[in-house]
Amino acid sequence: LPQKRRPSVIYMSYQECTGCLESLTRSFTPTLEYLMFNVMSLDYDDTLQAAAGFQAEAAREAAMKANWGKYLMIVDGAIPDGNNGYCTAAGKSALQSIQDVAKGAAAVVAVGTCASFGGLPMANPNPTRATMVSDIVTDKPVINVPGCPPIPVVITGTLAHFLTFGRLPDLDHLKRPIAFYGNTIHDRCYRRPFYDRGEFAKTFDDEGARNGWCLYELGCKGPTTYNACATTKWNAGTSFPIESGHGCIGCSEPNFWDRGDLYKPL
Ligand code: SF4
Ligand code: F3S
Repeated sequence: LPQKRRPSVIYMSYQECTGCLESLTRSFTPTLEYLMFNVMSLDYDDTLQAAAGFQAEAAREAAMKANWGKYLMIVDGAIPDGNNGYCTAAGKSALQSIQDVAKGAAAVVAVGTCASFGGLPMANPNPTRATMVSDIVTDKPVINVPGCPPIPVVITGTLAHFLTFGRLPDLDHLKRPIAFYGNTIHDRCYRRPFYDRGEFAKTFDDEGARNGWCLYELGCKGPTTYNACATTKWNAGTSFPIESGHGCIGCSEPNFWDRGDLYKPL
């Protein structure tokens, strides 16, 4: 029987720390391996692919040609708009390569806060004039999957949705899938009863902290941060920052780093 070709996916990395891809490899349901062997054809990813150099570029170009207008593009990292030499690969600047690959894509998934909102590369003084994907790709649907890094199953869940149904999931005003970013951390936090009773830890080692009280006065940004950490958790549902005793720093929100209030109450 003829085999239906799995949808082509092209993963491009720019100004990033590879933490988003590290996170993606830890997804437990669906796993990245399941997606690669059953759901998608990962035709380019400079960290995971076996090919290198000319062969890698040839594989990307062949996949783009064969699937023009249909492939899914994934981007991690911000784009250095003000420095043409930075992030150059195969003789192409980051700006040129994202524009070239996006041209034939059906949609673009910006993985991580750097791709979604500029993230740490865009933090003051932003020496490379780092820019978010949606400011550069303006004629294709863009899905933002922010987080520093994003939760593994939130990345694979978003990819699985698009690859299975062939359409975008419902998005919020920042282009984030509502299924994962529809609630704040605070909405679902297990420490919420302490917040409601006004029981706050004042230092990281006081009695309130030892009793598991709310971390709001230690700077927790859970009330203004939309993400699924309090429900899906991390490491196959084991825990999340607040459960390990540290407030949320708002890593899935724009400008979380530059606000300068990581340890100050809102
Ligand atoms: Fe809200 Fe943070 Fe307190 Fe949890 S720890 S209840 S998210 S302020
Ligand atoms: Fe980030 Fe806050 Fe979750 S810091 S990992 S959004 S709990």
